[in-house]
Amino acid sequence: MTMTPFPVAQKKPQLLRLHHQDDEASRVELATGLLAEVSSIAPKFLYDALGSRLFAAITELPEYYPTRTEAAIFTTHKAAMAAAIGTGRTLVDLGAGNCEKAANLFDALMPARYVAVDISADYLSDALDFLQFRHPAMDLLGIGIDFSTTFTLPPQADIEDCVVFYPGSSIGNFTPVQAEVFLRQIRAAAKGGGLLIGVDLVKPVSVLEPAYDDALGVTAAFNRNMLTISNRLLDADFNVSDFRHIACFNSRESRIEMHLEALREVTVCWPDVNGASTGKSGRVFHAGERIHTENSYKYTLDHFATLLHVAGYTKIRYWTDPNDWFAVFWADH
Ligand code: AVJ
Repeated sequence: MTMTPFPVAQKKPQLLRLHHQDDEASRVELATGLLAEVSSIAPKFLYDALGSRLFAAITELPEYYPTRTEAAIFTTHKAAMAAAIGTGRTLVDLGAGNCEKAANLFDALMPARYVAVDISADYLSDALDFLQFRHPAMDLLGIGIDFSTTFTLPPQADIEDCVVFYPGSSIGNFTPVQAEVFLRQIRAAAKGGGLLIGVDLVKPVSVLEPAYDDALGVTAAFNRNMLTISNRLLDADFNVSDFRHIACFNSRESRIEMHLEALREVTVCWPDVNGASTGKSGRVFHAGERIHTENSYKYTLDHFATLLHVAGYTKIRYWTDPNDWFAVFWADH
C-alpha cells in the first residue's frame, strides 16, 4: 500500500491592491507642472518599465556610490542592527520592489512577518511568491499603494510596533519640511515601533555630481526618458534630442538637482487636459530654459538626527561607511 502524502497547508502571500492608475490625474499633474513659471515634472514620472531598468543600471555604475555603500553598511553592521532592533518582529518595507534589500536582512532580523509596500502590486506578487518558497513559515503581505504624498496604510496591514524599513535614501526626494511630515506619519502609523532608514550624506561636489551625471550617460537617458513618458501619458510631442541632461549640486539647499535643458527654442504641444474646448495646449521653451525633474537632498549626520528627533523619535543611532558617504539610521519609539 502506498502512502498518500499528508496535505500540508501551504502559506500564501496576501496581496492588497489599493493603487489604481489614474491617467487623467497624471495628465493634469504633468500639464500643470510643465505650464508653471518654472517648468517641472515630478520624479515619480521617471519610473515606467524602461525607467525602472535604467535606474537599476544606474545602481551598477562606478560613479553611483549610494547603492553599494548602503549595501556594505548593512553587510558590515547587520548583526549590530539586529541587536538594537530585536528579532521576530514585523518588517514593513517601503518601496519594496523586488524585496531584495529586505530579504538580505532576514537572516539577521528574523522577522515573523514581512509587509512589502510598493506602488506596483504586480511587481510585489512574484517577489513574495519566491520569498514564501524560501521562508515557508513567514507571514507575507504585499500592499500596492502610492505613499508618495501621504503615508497611510489600511488597518489590515496591522503595523503597530513594527520595524519600518526605508532604504536607498528615497527620503532625499522630499524637501526637509516634507520629510519631517512623512517621518511623523510613519511614526504614528507604526505606533511604538522603529524606523530603519538609509540616508545619503553631504560630500565633495566632485563625488556628488558625477554620481548624477555619469560618463556612460545612463543617468542622462534616465532623465530624458521622462520626455518619452510625457509623450505617452500626455500625448505631448517632445523631441528627446531637443533637451540635455543637467545635474548640479545646489549647496544652499544641500541637494542635487536634475533638469532637462532646451538646446534650442522648442514648441511642445499636447491636447487640452480638462476637456476644455480649445483642444490644444502647450508651451514654448527658450534655448537654455529648463524643466526641473528631481531633487535629491543630502544630509549631515546631525541634520538628519535632528529631523528624526523633531519628528518624535527619541532613541536614535546610526551606522556609516568609512568615508561617511552614507548612513543607516535606527530611530526608535
Ligand atoms: C531613488 C531617489 C534615491 O536620488 O539618488 C538616481 C534617484 N536619480 N540617479 C537618488 C536617482 C538619479 C535616487 N533615489
